[in-house]
Amino acid sequence: MTETPAILLTRCYPEAVIERAERDYGATVNRDDTIWKGDDLIAAAEGFDGMLISSSNTLTADVISRLPERMKIVASYSVGYEHVDLEAAKARGLLITNTPDVLTDATADTALLLLLAAARRARESMAMVVEGRWVGWTPTQLLGVETGGRRLGILGMGRIGLAMAHRARALGMEIHYHNRSRLAPDLEQGARYHDSVEGLFAVSDFLSIHCEMTPQTEKLLNAETIEFLPDNAIVINTARGGIIDDDALIGALRSGRVFAAGLDVFDGEPKLDPRYRELDNAFVLPHIGSATVDTRNAMGFRALDNLDAFFRGDDPPDRLT
Ligand code: DGY
Repeated sequence: MTETPAILLTRCYPEAVIERAERDYGATVNRDDTIWKGDDLIAAAEGFDGMLISSSNTLTADVISRLPERMKIVASYSVGYEHVDLEAAKARGLLITNTPDVLTDATADTALLLLLAAARRARESMAMVVEGRWVGWTPTQLLGVETGGRRLGILGMGRIGLAMAHRARALGMEIHYHNRSRLAPDLEQGARYHDSVEGLFAVSDFLSIHCEMTPQTEKLLNAETIEFLPDNAIVINTARGGIIDDDALIGALRSGRVFAAGLDVFDGEPKLDPRYRELDNAFVLPHIGSATVDTRNAMGFRALDNLDAFFRGDDPPDRLT
């Protein structure tokens, strides 16, 4: 391609990312940050060769089939890609990329934050102070759960799962995991592999979810599987909300069968199940797993690296289709 490709940024990404996209491509930016879906996304894509979308810009088979023919590459500003129908993209010859690696540490930090906050009843504790209900220290006030010596079950031992394991070892936790396949010993570093979800859940005093959202993992934590968890287990989710059946988890949080949950992602977000708002033992965050200045810049740069490679005629490093 000799002319500068026309690039659309469908969201208002960090300024450093926008600056680079404007400098290199004269990119068009959705400064309003309206979330385009369906017909709006298709209309916005008109006249562009490539676009940088976020996980809120769903690319269903139908949307993909109606994208302007000129659109050849979509770089997603996310590591997750369940919002894109990869089969349909492949069939249409649309190249899709994501942003692995760069958000591993930020997301694992968030998982650790949730783990500690859930274990130490941070929501109730903070509310007591902020709402002026704290009348002084007592020996039995807001007693939580310690991490040292406890078993952490990691569901999905990919990059983020491994980074979480690394952090949890510093707390003295014993690491267990379930994955599609067992890792090599140098990656396992003593973590114990379980070849079934039930086997992992049965030893998870803490369960941290790091697997991809797929038809196989949808509602994997449900009324049946939750029963495998030890009493007073703690559930952490920084992956995707749909992996948890909310009825099952909310029921278990209400009854005390599950001690607490730390959740950064929700099924149907931002419209999370309102019952989570009423549960003192649900420590909830608004999908901030990757939300640091460094990481959000790095995600944008990684997406632009993929666009650059494609328009140079090279294979983009994070090609999914
Ligand atoms: C990701 O990168 O997948 C984050 O969850 C943001 O969508």
